[in-house]
Amino acid sequence: MFSLHRVATVLFALVSFTSIYIVYTIIYNVFIHPFRSVPGPKLYAISRFPWIKDWLSGNIHVSVQAMHEKYGDMVRVAPDEISCIRAEAWAEVYGHKGSKAFTRDFKWYARLTEGQDDIIVSTEADHSRFRKAFSASFSDKALKENEGIIMRNVALLVSRLQKHVRAGNDVADMIKWYNWCTFDVIGDLVYGSSFACLEKEEYHPWLGVVLQNIKLSSYGALMERYPAFKWLVNVLVPKSMLEMRNMHIGIIRSKIESRSEKQSTRRDVIADVSDTGDLTQGELEANLALITMAGSETSATALSAISYYLCRNESAFVEVKEEVRSTLRSEADITWDRVSELPYLAACIKEALRLYPPTPVGLPRRLMSDGTTVCGQYVPKNNVVYITQYSAYRSELNFLDAKSFRPERWLGDPKFESDQRDVFQPFIVGPYSCPGKSLAYMEISLVITKIVWTFDWALADEGSLAFENEKVYALWQKNPLNLKLSERPVR
Ligand code: HEM
Repeated sequence: MFSLHRVATVLFALVSFTSIYIVYTIIYNVFIHPFRSVPGPKLYAISRFPWIKDWLSGNIHVSVQAMHEKYGDMVRVAPDEISCIRAEAWAEVYGHKGSKAFTRDFKWYARLTEGQDDIIVSTEADHSRFRKAFSASFSDKALKENEGIIMRNVALLVSRLQKHVRAGNDVADMIKWYNWCTFDVIGDLVYGSSFACLEKEEYHPWLGVVLQNIKLSSYGALMERYPAFKWLVNVLVPKSMLEMRNMHIGIIRSKIESRSEKQSTRRDVIADVSDTGDLTQGELEANLALITMAGSETSATALSAISYYLCRNESAFVEVKEEVRSTLRSEADITWDRVSELPYLAACIKEALRLYPPTPVGLPRRLMSDGTTVCGQYVPKNNVVYITQYSAYRSELNFLDAKSFRPERWLGDPKFESDQRDVFQPFIVGPYSCPGKSLAYMEISLVITKIVWTFDWALADEGSLAFENEKVYALWQKNPLNLKLSERPVR
């Protein structure tokens, strides 16, 4: 029989042990840990909870930026985690040199397909094999072939918008339209047929579920860190999201089937990968799911950002319209060869990616080898370092007038000579960098040129001003961006 005395003794022991553990952890983190001299708020150095609070509130990007503004280019954002905003850190952490020691932090990255590795979550050997299998799809030759596919979808985007404007429905939520367009493009490129979002003017169920649940998926990423609480995901996350994990496999399989029924002769990603014979069926499906998401949401974010910043910056908007509408003589001139030679447009795209990077938070890298240094700071094994793009690009340490949209900084204006342009890496660098970079630039440039060629626009409501202050749950949680479109006068 337990006596009251015994229960009290056990409780006392437990409380004492926990208290000693907490006090020891605080003393260790603040005074002994090799990151003890890295500046940052003490509470964040003591425990991970403040970071978790910021993460769950969708304000991690704002909070880390405030830390960099107060403490400088290297800050301690959690006991074992540093955010850095110096250009050298790209090579040291993400580049070929860094990747020998740093790997993606699998306490943060979650698999898109349950139980199946993909190019993002995989061992080093599998990652190289997956990259090799997809290399033909991201080659220059493939890029050239993809132009026609992109143009077909862009033409549909513009004709649908024109139809609405001509019918008097001149306000369009461009978040929706750009998501539909980039999702259709990726469907066409990967599976040989689009998802018909533009045609039906509705979200494909797969895309719809993913976008509605960006916030909840980021909770899932948190649970990778605390596996004991994984059951919480099942309670918090709606059934639709959990079902989505399996639903996308069904969609991919039916796309593959309808593709082989049509006996298409056109190259697509599936054909390229099948030729290598290097992937199992499960690996193929998981990677197709990953590319479908990685290749559409990011580009749609970039397109929305460019549209937003242009109409918020009158002189830049006037200049880009002038460049597009006078350099190109007719719509037939809207080709990648011609559009890639429009310097002001390219500068506007870069500037929008700088102020609104599609991956705004730090993509964490964990040191798996013995200790090393990053920007002169010693990093012990099993600790995490990253560059936080949102903070790096909005810091006056890196860019003059950092929070303003100034395309001329990319065009050799001497005023911006001191800008640290090397820190700007929206597609990151090294062996894990984005293989879709050239494709993304081509797609974004063609869409924006065609939109600028056809329409003038302005923000349609005050609510859309919130665009710049959206929450971030790993990705931007975007609310409607309503633009009032008008067809430009026929010349
Ligand atoms: C503006 C558009 C885009 C941006 C800013 C972007 C950015 C990025 C970034 C930062 C990463 C690294 C992720 C990490 O390490 O956690 C990445 C990876 C990746 N991206 Fe993109 N991306 C864009 C468009 C695309 C497109 C169009 C595709 C394909 C059609 C694509 C396919 C991929 C793939 C497959 C990976 C994984 C690479 C690997 O692990 O080796 N992305 N992207």
